[in-house]
Amino acid sequence: MIGVFDSGVGGLTVVKEIKKILPDAPIIYFGDTARLPYGNKSQETIQKFSSEIAEFLKKKGCRTIVIACNSASALAADYLREIYPDLKIYDVVSSGAEAAVEATKNKKIGVIGTTATINSSVYKKKISELDPEIEVFTKACPLFVHLVEENWIKRPETRKIARTYLRELKLNKIDTLLLGCTHYPLLEKIISGVMGRRTKVIASGEKLAKELEKTDLETGFPSEDEYFVSDLTPHFEKLAGKILGKRVKILKIEI
Ligand code: DGL
Repeated sequence: MIGVFDSGVGGLTVVKEIKKILPDAPIIYFGDTARLPYGNKSQETIQKFSSEIAEFLKKKGCRTIVIACNSASALAADYLREIYPDLKIYDVVSSGAEAAVEATKNKKIGVIGTTATINSSVYKKKISELDPEIEVFTKACPLFVHLVEENWIKRPETRKIARTYLRELKLNKIDTLLLGCTHYPLLEKIISGVMGRRTKVIASGEKLAKELEKTDLETGFPSEDEYFVSDLTPHFEKLAGKILGKRVKILKIEI
């Protein structure tokens, strides 16, 4: 059983990639919608929320956990590994950094994410561990999460905000832009349009799914996926269905 979590709907973009590669892998998803956003919270709070969710997923029988939230990956992945040595913990930051290093040709990578992720400098650190010659340019884009949660993914207002956020990165002549927030793949069209054809826009979900594929996932569990949130609105259900390409049953739960 694979437990996947995020602060909201964004982690479903990772579930979608996992399902492409491992269609039969049973997944339990938790979106912490009542406490979203994580991206403007302190490390202490993000660690507290993340460990509560990990505990819930562990009780549901998950032995593998995917942190499908960059903010939680940046600020709570090491903490979760320390307190849950018995769980296999994957995080989107490690996968995203590897994917970006593999993609760049001119060794100039841009990373966008929430304020918490960007201020943690986790991407600069991970990418320079993989290749110290690579220059990393970062930009926090905090409004993007709200625009996605509002489903404003095709609005001209969103394009305008994207142009403002991405202006500096364009000047830095990056050839790869990593979407360092799992909500951002939903804005990929707008972001790619603003960056232009010379910049490859990539996300971490596919790389993470390929890493999961290499490990021995436990079998013998019921194959029905389960979706939980800490606050449920019809809006969330609609957006989840749009991302996953099908309607799924979502339950509200207190953890
Ligand atoms: N999806 C989360 C991430 O990847 C961010 C959303 C939030 O700020 O809660 O960082």
